[in-house]
Order: sequence, then structure tokens, then C-alpha cells
Amino acid sequence: MQHRTLGTTDLEIAPLVLGGNVFGWTADEKTSFRILDAMLDHGLNAVDTADLYSAWVDGHEGGESERVIGAWLAERGPEVRGRIVLITKVGYEGGLSRDHILEAAEASLRRLRTDRIDLYFSHKPDPETPIEETLEAHERLIEQGKVRWAGASNYDADGLAAALEAGAAEGRARYAVLQPEYNLYARSEYEDGLRAVAEREDLGVIPYFALAAGFLTGKYRSEEDFSKSARGAGVKKRYWNDRGRRIVAALDEVAASAGPGVTPAQVALAWLRDRPTVTAPIASATSVGQLEEIAAACELELDEAAVARLDEASG
Ligand SMILES: NC(=O)c1ccc[n+]([C@@H]2O[C@H](COP(=O)([O-])OP(=O)(O)OC[C@H]3O[C@@H](n4cnc5c(N)ncnc54)[C@H](OP(=O)(O)O)[C@@H]3O)[C@@H](O)[C@H]2O)c1
Repeated sequence: MQHRTLGTTDLEIAPLVLGGNVFGWTADEKTSFRILDAMLDHGLNAVDTADLYSAWVDGHEGGESERVIGAWLAERGPEVRGRIVLITKVGYEGGLSRDHILEAAEASLRRLRTDRIDLYFSHKPDPETPIEETLEAHERLIEQGKVRWAGASNYDADGLAAALEAGAAEGRARYAVLQPEYNLYARSEYEDGLRAVAEREDLGVIPYFALAAGFLTGKYRSEEDFSKSARGAGVKKRYWNDRGRRIVAALDEVAASAGPGVTPAQVALAWLRDRPTVTAPIASATSVGQLEEIAAACELELDEAAVARLDEASG
């Protein structure tokens, strides 16, 4: 599989990153191990998690996903750890103060059972903490060898530009990678603002919700379908409207004309992968079958007419 360089970093990743929010949530440990093994078998090499995952589930406190990945890494051993680009995040809860970042990184390393995080994201901006303090904490972790690269998630264009300017100073990390929400349904925030900053600054870009939490697979087509997944209620609230249905209809058409066995999920991922500035979409899977389907998107090339049809439906 052709790898892509993540912006100005030395990280080389397959053109699809495996999302890890499902591990310990909608995928139990045994299934998660199988999905992670299948990730490697199908040529993917990057996995994205966060210290927060999956704190939104009753009885969970966050760290469940990192623990599952850590147990898998411990079982598979150092050779597998060496092949993986391990991505996690800090500060969705608890902010981005120096003390919180340094403590949270130690806790993530313990749960992940590793000595380094390859890419460490500020999960969302923290208006209470000066950006300089946040970037100094990231730099400290990089100097200590506990983190290799820093990234920003959920920043708006102005916040990102300011963070990059602050990161140019000595003693501060520069955010080298951006993790925005971006998919066929949610386009404007990225395309109308963030994209110009990412392009100008040569950032690596790994968008999340590449499948709109499953909606863009086309599995939700009637009211009854929303009971199919723990994600169903959220999907219905956000995407079940005329525009959403138009996008799924376009995905169906493009998939049918792209060749036998091509699915809407694969079309949605291939479209996003080839958007300007995107390095690789992030998507999760709750079974090996789903993983196999989305991994195959790495080989799918869409022609101009297909892209135009998708742009028309989602614009
Ligand atoms: N930075 C941030 O703030 C942020 C926010 C959200 C997510 N993320 C990252 O992005 C990753 C992906 O997000 P996400 O998992 O929420 O959404 P997603 O990738 O858009 O949707 C994935 C979900 O769709 C379903 N699915 C996947 N492949 C399928 C297939 N072939 N057929 C049918 N259904 C399929 C699965 O859910 P079901 O089987 O349950 O239907 C799967 O969990 C996360 O794991 C996380 O790493 C980051």
C-alpha cells in the first residue's frame, strides 16, 4: 500500500487511519484485537485514540480505548509497536495547561503500555490557557522523547493560525498535523477556513467522522435502521434530512458505476482522501468485516464525473 507523509513530520501512514473510539465501547476487547490485527493484515498502520474515549458511556471514565490498544500492543510485542503510528489526544476534559498535559501524557503512556506517543493532539482549544503554555508543554514531551509530534484538533482557522505563529518560537512545539471534522456532509468549516491555513503551513491533515458516524455507509435508509447501532440515535438527529439523503443517493450511484462490489462507504472515503490537503481520513470499524470494507477504499480511485456528482449532491 502506498504510504503518505504526514505534512512536515517523518511519519508515513497508509491513506486510511483506523479510529479507536469504538475499542471498549461498541467493540469489546476480543473484537477490538481482531480489528487491530486486521488493520495490519490489510496494510493500515496508524491508529487514533484519545484519553477521553469512551467517557460518554455510563460507567466509563475515559481511557478504555487506550487500555484496549495497550493490551493489544503488549500481547503482540515490540515488532508490532514499531510498525504502528500511535496517535492519542489530551485536553477534551481538563484543558491544556502545562501540568495537565504532562500528567495526562504519563497516564496515556501507561494505558498504552508504550514509551512514546507518535502524534499527540490537543483535542480542542482551551480558552483558559495561553497557547504558549500549551505549546511549551508539548515541546517538553518531545524533548523527553515521550512524544514525537504535536497536532491540533477542533481548532478554528483563526485559532489554528495563532497557534502556528506562537509555535514558531524557540522552546515551543509547532502543531504539524490537523485533525478537523470533515466529510461529504460536513464541508464548509474545513473548506472555507481551515483548508487555506493547512495548505499555507504544509500541515498533515487527518479528518475525523469520515463516514459521518456510519451514515455515509448507506446503512440508514428508514426509521427502523436507526436501532441498528449504538450510534443510530445520534446519526438520525444530525444527518437524517433531505441533504443527507441526497448525499447517500449520490454515493449509491457512484458506487454502482465504479465497479462490482464497490460500496458507498468506500466511495465516501476515497472522495475525502483525494480532497486537496487531506493526508488520510480517519474511520472506525466495529467488526473485521467493516474493517475489510473500509480498508479496500485505499485502492479505489474515483473519476472526475464521480467527484463532480458527489460535489453536486453535497455542495
Ligand atoms: N478529534 C475529535 O474530536 C474526534 C471526534 C470524533 C471522532 N474522532 C476520531 O475519528 C474516528 C472515527 O470517528 P467515528 O468512529 O466516530 O465515526 P466514523 O468513522 O465516521 O464512523 C464509523 C462507524 O461507522 C460504522 N461503520 C464503519 N464501517 C462500516 C461499514 N463498512 N459498514 C457499516 N457500518 C460501518 C461503525 O459503527 P456501527 O457499527 O456502530 O454502526 C463505525 O464505528 C474515531 O474513532 C476517533 O479516532 C475524533
